[in-house]
Amino acid sequence: MPTVPIELPHHRYEVAIEAGLLSRLGQQVREVAPHGCAALLRDAGLPAAHAAAAHEALEREGYAVTDGVFATSERLKSLDTVRSMYELLLGDRLERRSPVVALGGGILTDTAGFAAATYLRGVPLVMVPTTLLAMVDASVGGKVGVNVPEGKNLIGAFYQPMRVVIDPQVLTTLPTRELRCGLAECIKHAMIRDAARFEWLENNVEAVLALEPAALTELVRWNVQIKAQVVMADEKEAGERAHLNFGHTFAHAIEAVQGQGDGGEAGGDAPADSYHHGEAVALGMVAATRLAVSEGLVDRSVLDRLVPLLKRAGLPTYLSHPPAVDALMAAMALDKKVADSRIRLVLPTAVGAVEVFGEMRAQVIEQAWRELGGGVGESM
Ligand SMILES: NC(=O)c1ccc[n+]([C@@H]2O[C@H](COP(=O)([O-])OP(=O)(O)OC[C@H]3O[C@@H](n4cnc5c(N)ncnc54)[C@H](O)[C@@H]3O)[C@@H](O)[C@H]2O)c1
Ligand SMILES: [Zn+2]
Repeated sequence: MPTVPIELPHHRYEVAIEAGLLSRLGQQVREVAPHGCAALLRDAGLPAAHAAAAHEALEREGYAVTDGVFATSERLKSLDTVRSMYELLLGDRLERRSPVVALGGGILTDTAGFAAATYLRGVPLVMVPTTLLAMVDASVGGKVGVNVPEGKNLIGAFYQPMRVVIDPQVLTTLPTRELRCGLAECIKHAMIRDAARFEWLENNVEAVLALEPAALTELVRWNVQIKAQVVMADEKEAGERAHLNFGHTFAHAIEAVQGQGDGGEAGGDAPADSYHHGEAVALGMVAATRLAVSEGLVDRSVLDRLVPLLKRAGLPTYLSHPPAVDALMAAMALDKKVADSRIRLVLPTAVGAVEVFGEMRAQVIEQAWRELGGGVGESM
């Protein structure tokens, strides 16, 4: 079975990836956390067949299963949900060695992961991500946590799982828009680290969108590898881990500005017609790459490969409304009137390579936002 080992200075674990693996979840958990009881904390949005497969697999392996179902949204990624997880675990007297199995998308794995990190000061955690984003991003790296009204992911911990169990077959039920959003992070991984994988995407993006099993498994495997490689080099994000932010400084500004349509409460859900995170990341990567081209940091051919790939993945490459440049600049804490207003950005230097540039001027960023609004001879 393809596994990706994660070797950290103080902890080693494996990410197991195989089609159909959900039906063998019990063995996977027993290998790392043998015990009489287990808690299955699962995403209410997950199709019943996946939940039943996981539950039965744990019972078959002899676990008495405490089953908790949790509705997921950014608003419910909260300390209240963590509290209801604690109550479930306390009610069934789960012990120090009872594993918590987190089954669902990134919202569920972040929230249940935080509950596992703090219940009895930490119990064995097995992550079972079921969205592409959770597989290639949220469940690798050890970050768990929740939102508070003051902002997203402000409360959390670094807490490594005992194992990550990935069954790419569960992606066949994922809404296409969620699949596309996960693909944005995959394109990001290729852009920051691996030109050969970028070419793989150019050759396989349609196979992935058609949910071809071999393509999905291969996609997940190399993406976990890249994320793991970056995280292993830099577990607590001082340096290299910043490369994962490629496209994200622009994306976060888009998300912040559109989030204001929601009453402005940080940690809330964005309005229904707004860009999802992966879509904002796609736009952010285009903005960052355009900027790098116009500053002479990268060859134009990189943009000419990135934009078509994003389009084929069904991701936006232009803002659909004229950009609210002032609001976007404010969201980036930039003031174009202040001469020394500058920002650190991760920018491409080639396909498969990025660098951190510490001193990008506000005027240059503003130009990138204007170009993202279109009118440069292309449309979305
Ligand atoms: N910890 C980290 O390092 C990290 C990294 C990136 C993102 N995140 C977090 O991840 C979250 C986003 O995760 P997401 O994109 O997985 O969104 P999500 O958790 O909202 O899941 C998307 C939707 O898909 C449903 N779903 C899940 N699996 C399914 C399946 N197999 N079939 C059908 N439906 C399914 C969910 O119920 C949900 O409605 C954010 O809160 C973000 O902060 C964390
Ligand atoms: Zn992201």
